[in-house]
Amino acid sequence: MQTLKEKVILITGANRGIGKSLVKASLEKGARKIYATARDVSKLPNFGDERVIPLELDITDKAQILKVVEKARDVEILINNAGSFNPGTILDGEISGMELDMKTNYYGTINMMRAFSLVLEKNTPSKIVNIVSIAAYSPLPSIAGYAASKSALFSATLSVRIELAKKGITVHAVNPGAIDTDMNKGSNWDMPAPDGVAKIILDKVEAGELDIVPDEMGLGMFNAWKEEPSKLAEIFSNMYHGE
Ligand SMILES: NC(=O)c1ccc[n+]([C@@H]2O[C@H](COP(=O)([O-])OP(=O)(O)OC[C@H]3O[C@@H](n4cnc5c(N)ncnc54)[C@H](OP(=O)(O)O)[C@@H]3O)[C@@H](O)[C@H]2O)c1
Repeated sequence: MQTLKEKVILITGANRGIGKSLVKASLEKGARKIYATARDVSKLPNFGDERVIPLELDITDKAQILKVVEKARDVEILINNAGSFNPGTILDGEISGMELDMKTNYYGTINMMRAFSLVLEKNTPSKIVNIVSIAAYSPLPSIAGYAASKSALFSATLSVRIELAKKGITVHAVNPGAIDTDMNKGSNWDMPAPDGVAKIILDKVEAGELDIVPDEMGLGMFNAWKEEPSKLAEIFSNMYHGE
């Protein structure tokens, strides 16, 4: 068990949703310092705690990433949470939305891992926690571009886990199901609130779990996929065609 007490944590997309909840959960875990990054720091909530250091960061902007690395050389836990979401099918979805999701979720996260790898190597034992999605292995026609970007990120996460394994850096993949954030605005699913999900994610990180599914819906899908991928495809096919 490696607790997060006294650890220095950086969280991307910390102004709302799961990222904001991860900041609150990190404070509760007793982190020493939390770099809460956001594209627009004025949108960061007041966490009411001096341990939270706000930093401006768009993860698609390499120059900004390098500036953040300079300011945050003590990071021990890098939580890549920021993500974009553009719906659309493979045949009809806007290519620009697909490109943006790939640029943010895949290349943006890769650039973060590259930029922080030497810092994390210096500050071992350290961790990368990538917030991926069950979309990484679920056939979801109506959000196919987003799903492809998360599949790419999942693959990158599994590869970099091996690449960094002997360097004292543990890499966690977090694959949530639907969580009640802006990303699912308008959906009438029964979804867990991000605060509880963030706590479960950090509990599982502390417990050393590498592949984390923090919610019931996600677990149901993960188990169906593990049992037989075509079973999950059938569930989503029936949903998509309204059967
Ligand atoms: N909610 C779900 O059901 C669910 C399920 C599985 C995985 N996830 C993943 O969980 C993560 C957090 O999502 P969420 O549900 O909390 O969604 P959210 O409420 O829409 O928050 C997304 C966050 O990402 C930030 N972001 C987007 N593009 C960025 C960029 N280029 N650079 C820096 N920050 C950027 C947003 O900042 P702005 O406020 O500036 O836009 C916002 O802080 C995402 O990676 C998402 O894919 C969510």
